[in-house]
Amino acid sequence: MTSPTWTPESWRSKPIRQAPAYPDGVVLAAAEDGLRRSPPLVFAGETRELKASLARVATGEAFLLQGGDCAESFDAFSADSIRDSFKVLLQMAVALTFGGACPVVKVGRVAGQFAKPRSEAMETVGNRALPSYRGDIINGHAFDEVARVPDPKRMFKAYSQSASTLNLLRAFAQGGFADLQRLHQWNLGFVATSPQGLRYERLAQRIDEALAFMAACGISSDTVASLGQTAFYTSHEALLLPYEEALTRVDSLTGDWYNCSTHMPWIGERTRQLDGAHVEFCRGIKNPVGVKIGSTVTPDELLALIDALSPENEPGRLTLIVRMGADKIGAALPQLVRAVAREGRSVVWSSDPMHGNTMKAASGYKTRRFDRILAEVRNFFDIHRAEGSHAGGIHVEMTGLDVTECTGGGQAISEEGLGERYHTQCDPRLNGSQALELAFLLAEELKAERDMRRSALPAVAD
Ligand code: PEP
Ligand code: CO
Repeated sequence: MTSPTWTPESWRSKPIRQAPAYPDGVVLAAAEDGLRRSPPLVFAGETRELKASLARVATGEAFLLQGGDCAESFDAFSADSIRDSFKVLLQMAVALTFGGACPVVKVGRVAGQFAKPRSEAMETVGNRALPSYRGDIINGHAFDEVARVPDPKRMFKAYSQSASTLNLLRAFAQGGFADLQRLHQWNLGFVATSPQGLRYERLAQRIDEALAFMAACGISSDTVASLGQTAFYTSHEALLLPYEEALTRVDSLTGDWYNCSTHMPWIGERTRQLDGAHVEFCRGIKNPVGVKIGSTVTPDELLALIDALSPENEPGRLTLIVRMGADKIGAALPQLVRAVAREGRSVVWSSDPMHGNTMKAASGYKTRRFDRILAEVRNFFDIHRAEGSHAGGIHVEMTGLDVTECTGGGQAISEEGLGERYHTQCDPRLNGSQALELAFLLAEELKAERDMRRSALPAVAD
């Protein structure tokens, strides 16, 4: 059970999984100390705003769009790739807001998504076994003995890359780039010529007409700030606890502890043990938090986890990120949704249709079939509709780059074609075109949910 007293370091007395074996404790302590003296990356007030937006998701009035790289990398760091992923997220949000007539809460898997849990501690190539790659914040990707040694100094590089990424994202979100009047410019070259891109163009034209009408009525980004900028938040898996602890600070306004490395940390499927270090750490911070939920969790286990992470049952505090797989979700999810509703727990239900649908192609590439991803999303919506619950969000691994990592979609990427542009450091991501196709499907599902709710309302006599 969780202990009554929480401190930023109380996780240290709990069993921990997926922790790197740093060879030198003194170097680690020095790195932690350096981070502790570094400025926070996000502010407590921002995480409270996000929590309030997520509370609207929990009550069915908004939708959560969370997406980005599986793993950010030091080598692939560039302003262009940050901009392009941001553009695709904006496009997805437009499709959802317009098609689903639903406010969208935008959260990137970005500016800190560096640490990766691994199923195997060792990786074997030929007859050589080396410690697995655990993300650039921990060790190097190269299959090389020296690169694979965990190095605490990598935490500084991750911190500094996160700071510059956040700086750019803040400028994009608030500096005019996200102005709705620029929505044609978010259509990336390779997406624009695809069927999804053309569909987006048609949608953009309709929005243009609506904006022109509103401008004629005196409403434009010059008069209403929310048309010219957007709220954009960051998230990552809170896996590497020495890093997370070092960036956890007391908010001077409330006296509460906030993890200031990101707006919304989440706990992964492999580290969500009730008595474990990761649950202990996350229970004490006041940020909105997420937890991944696989197909094996029982209703009792889930309720205990909710009790630990959201004891005050505050709407917006906890997002359950369901990652079961298209084949398993039908049997596993309904009983969980029912148990949560029966016990009156307020959560955001979000679907991660990526991590339960990973497979190995004959060529050896780790991939995901786009039709399986869509199938899990459809099942997720169907289950929530049947239970009278809100399918509140989506959590995807995606990029604005024209990669060939997941098969299928409008570009009909084949298993043989995976090698053409397979760039991920870890899991296969949706490319911009596939991500947009998914957003259009989501918009239809949201519209169906809204229509169903409307028809369930009692008729009003006039
Ligand atoms: C991830 O989100 O990259 C991940 C490892 O997910 P999960 O914990 O659901 O396996
Ligand atoms: Co992943």
